[in-house]
Amino acid sequence: MSDRNQARAVFLGGPGAGKGTQAKRLSESFVFAHISTGDMLRSQVAKCTDLGNQAKILMDQGKLVSDELIVAMVKDRIAEPDAKGGWILDGFPRTLPQAVALDRLLGASKSLQVTHVVYFRIADGVLELRLSGRRNCSKCGAIWHVANKPTCKDGVCDLCGGVLVHRADDRPEAIQKRLQDFHAITAGPLHTYYKNQGVLREVDANRSQEVIYQELVQLMQ
Ligand code: AP5
Repeated sequence: MSDRNQARAVFLGGPGAGKGTQAKRLSESFVFAHISTGDMLRSQVAKCTDLGNQAKILMDQGKLVSDELIVAMVKDRIAEPDAKGGWILDGFPRTLPQAVALDRLLGASKSLQVTHVVYFRIADGVLELRLSGRRNCSKCGAIWHVANKPTCKDGVCDLCGGVLVHRADDRPEAIQKRLQDFHAITAGPLHTYYKNQGVLREVDANRSQEVIYQELVQLMQ
């Protein structure tokens, strides 16, 4: 358990594979920092910062934000006190330059390298169904699904009463673009990169959330 709290993990997988769902639960159970570049960008969008306004145009179309901007954001985030004991990176890296930049950020010391890279394997057809039915709580960030994980009352978070939103990039055209980029830019190059480093593990992400969670708990020991 104590080793698990020192994990520095990367969750890799297509849009809707369940990375955020699992990273959120694991970080709450084992006190990891859950670092989601998507959530960080959405928070900038909500605050209407310059970065958020720039990112929104790309995100709404399902396009990637520049490597430079993302790497700078992650560099600051992993230096924060809550990340000292371990973290799960959710949605980063997703290009080869981002993966190389992460290794550089962590430095040459073996004791600070990425310890686990988990690839969430799942078919595109399942991802499309998950994304089109996903609803996110605008207040606490909880992740729901109209069919797989519905709330008691439509449009209202069971946990905090916040309003549920349907992400702009969870619409059909943006989903197609995200899937295309995932296959062309993320999956192949990063699978090879981390396989060569000997840290890659795969999970079958087309099972229940509970079964996947239990497997991740074992895998991250
Ligand atoms: P980001 O927020 O990272 O989106 P993503 O990678 O496309 O991943 P998602 O958040 O859509 O899916 P997830 O795998 O977390 O699935 P979830 O757990 O929610 O990025 C958004 C945008 O920001 C990008 O498009 C880009 O523009 C920009 N960006 C972010 N990072 C970037 C980077 N590094 N470089 C450049 N640009 C970047 O689950 C999905 C649904 O399925 C939910 O409804 C959930 O309840 C349900 N579900 C989950 N698990 C299961 C299960 N086992 N069975 C049934 N249903 C399930």
